[in-house]
Amino acid sequence: MHRFISRRLAPACVAVAALTLAGAATGQPAPSAAAGKIKVGFMLPYTGTYAALGTAIENGFRMYVQEQGGRLGGREVEYFKVDDESDPAKAPENANKLVKRDQVDVVVGTVHSGVQMGIVKVAKESNTLLIIPNAGADEATGPLCGPNIFRSSFSNWQPGYAMGQVVAERGMKRVVTLTWKYAAGEQSVRGFKEAFEAKGGKIVKELSLPFPNVEFQAQITEIASLKPDAVFVFFAGGGAVKFVKDWAAAGLKDKIPLYASGFLTDGTLEAQGAAAQGLETTLHYADGLQNPRDKQFRLNYAKAYKLQPDVYAVQGYDAAQMLAAGASAVKGDMSRKADVYKAIAAARIDSPRGTFTLSRAHNPVQDFYLRKVEGRENKVSGIAVKALADPARGCRL
Ligand code: BEZ
Repeated sequence: MHRFISRRLAPACVAVAALTLAGAATGQPAPSAAAGKIKVGFMLPYTGTYAALGTAIENGFRMYVQEQGGRLGGREVEYFKVDDESDPAKAPENANKLVKRDQVDVVVGTVHSGVQMGIVKVAKESNTLLIIPNAGADEATGPLCGPNIFRSSFSNWQPGYAMGQVVAERGMKRVVTLTWKYAAGEQSVRGFKEAFEAKGGKIVKELSLPFPNVEFQAQITEIASLKPDAVFVFFAGGGAVKFVKDWAAAGLKDKIPLYASGFLTDGTLEAQGAAAQGLETTLHYADGLQNPRDKQFRLNYAKAYKLQPDVYAVQGYDAAQMLAAGASAVKGDMSRKADVYKAIAAARIDSPRGTFTLSRAHNPVQDFYLRKVEGRENKVSGIAVKALADPARGCRL
């Protein structure tokens, strides 16, 4: 028996072996490898600036599985967890803890685009099913796309592109961008720039600071002196809370229009308070969507966790729906990898955000909402871009 199989799993393996031998002896077809539990490995940030995002993803995922009676494809689900600390340097080692040590059927991870690159590498090398429940790294559904790599969230390009259109259509001409200097921010800005400049706008300065630095004063002072028509930013989690407060404290809130991808104000409004009121963002989820699926999801989530859900919880919930589509197609036999991948790729996901399908590169094709902060809500005010598909540049599938 394989040396990585833990003592806890040994009885299940013995049972499978016994059934296989029994099948051979009786001439019955051998049972599928569907005995035992489906092993789900969460590789998420549970500490640091993105800790709350990781927890919301796990909550959403577990809630969907609970709603199915704790089973997917007829099999119980067992969880394994690794805190990735949003640290790209540790990503391959952490991903291998789940893939090699725990021998999971699927890795669900992660939040940070830099860490995602390490997970994608391990998933490709081992042909392990990977469902990305947040990180937008364009490469994962671009040049590094693969048959076993799926995303329940967005590509970094998508929300940036949607906001680029909105800002251009409002007649803004000169925009400054500001972000953490890593893939998520840089690719969001690239998406924004593509749409904004195609409609005649100009990015007059691209500012950045290292992740997860939250000393924004130098950049805020520079923006004040540049006096642009508007500013576009990417920040999320704890850093987003601090930025929105610093922006208001510097007296710029009512002077220079601030736009962002919706991560700036999702899951953060309680902490941002008055400083966030009126901010407009684009995202694939919003408060006040009038669909029954979302209403039920929000009720169940509030009951289960005594919290309002956010976009990260939705992405976790939908990652579980995607896994369910694959597991049901093979009646829980996750060893039939090609069939699992085919079923997930073809799934229509009945998401709280609205139904979505996956592009050929396995990224959601989805509506991007325009939202405005009112009290503790990112209230939907319209659809910025309908059924937006990432261009999947460089993906050969
Ligand atoms: C990212 O690193 O891809 C990311 C992190 C937080 C929110 C959105 C994107």
